[in-house]
Amino acid sequence: MNYTRKDLLGLRDLSVDEMSCFLNLAKKYKALNNSDIKKSDALRGKTVINAFFENSTRTRISFETAAKRLGADAINFSAASSSTKKGETLMDTINNLEAMKTDIFVLRHFSSGAASFIAKHTTSSVVNAGDGLNEHPSQGLLDIFTIMEHKGDLKNLKISIIGDIEHSRVARSDIWAMSKFGAKLTLFGPPMMMPLGVEAFGCKVAKDMEEAVDGADVIIMLRVQLERQNASTPFPSNREYSKFFGLTKARVLLANDPLIMHPGPINRGVEVNSDVLEGDFNMVFNQVENGVAVRMAILDILNSNRRKA
Ligand code: NCD
Repeated sequence: MNYTRKDLLGLRDLSVDEMSCFLNLAKKYKALNNSDIKKSDALRGKTVINAFFENSTRTRISFETAAKRLGADAINFSAASSSTKKGETLMDTINNLEAMKTDIFVLRHFSSGAASFIAKHTTSSVVNAGDGLNEHPSQGLLDIFTIMEHKGDLKNLKISIIGDIEHSRVARSDIWAMSKFGAKLTLFGPPMMMPLGVEAFGCKVAKDMEEAVDGADVIIMLRVQLERQNASTPFPSNREYSKFFGLTKARVLLANDPLIMHPGPINRGVEVNSDVLEGDFNMVFNQVENGVAVRMAILDILNSNRRKA
């Protein structure tokens, strides 16, 4: 089975076979990234524009690294220093960038659905690098890749996703994709950070932190996304958040020798205690390393699809 779509917009509509195309190719690129000469010419002569309308450290640099390792010309566009500030619309900006013969857009935007909208109106391939509260497919794939490396298969694995689920596109991509791979998911977070109708995800919803981590094989912690919340103080203090919703060493001991994951950036001492991050089970840097390989696979596959189109 091949991945034949022009774009990668989300994991919700993808089959396990389609997702596996990226995961399998990423293994090859991980090996390349660990070799002496971290370079391929799969995208030689191609132009990849990273169009970021929201802040990012890992995702933007990871896509840039991925594009450069594949031999592409990687251009970074940051909304903060662009004509977006002068009132240009997203579509006009993309059309202008496309006129420069762009092959692939990597788009991060604060509006859910922005990547799908742009993908419909451009012949370039579009990778959704996070759209509002909707999806973050490359993060979902790199999370699955990291889990598979350590646990083999996801089938019947107990995975807990904890924190600000309402505002997390990572949670949505993880939930939709990991469920398809057969994982048993548990969700937990403060009531005001749980999506309305959370039951529709078909996951277990825990009532407290102890139940959320009990017997878990993998714990994915999420950042409190204050920038997406209206209330000025959605909880009384960081100390209180940590007490009821934070991951401590004592709580890790209730789980099943778990992998600890976080998409970053981490609010140390809020959602995760520093002592947890010092343990061998901390997968954060593995996730970051794997992110480059997974994104190389994404760019390579989409580029081949464009050539066929
Ligand atoms: C996440 C995002 O932007 O959705 N970060 C990331 O891409 N590594 C999560 C977050 O910002 O908390």
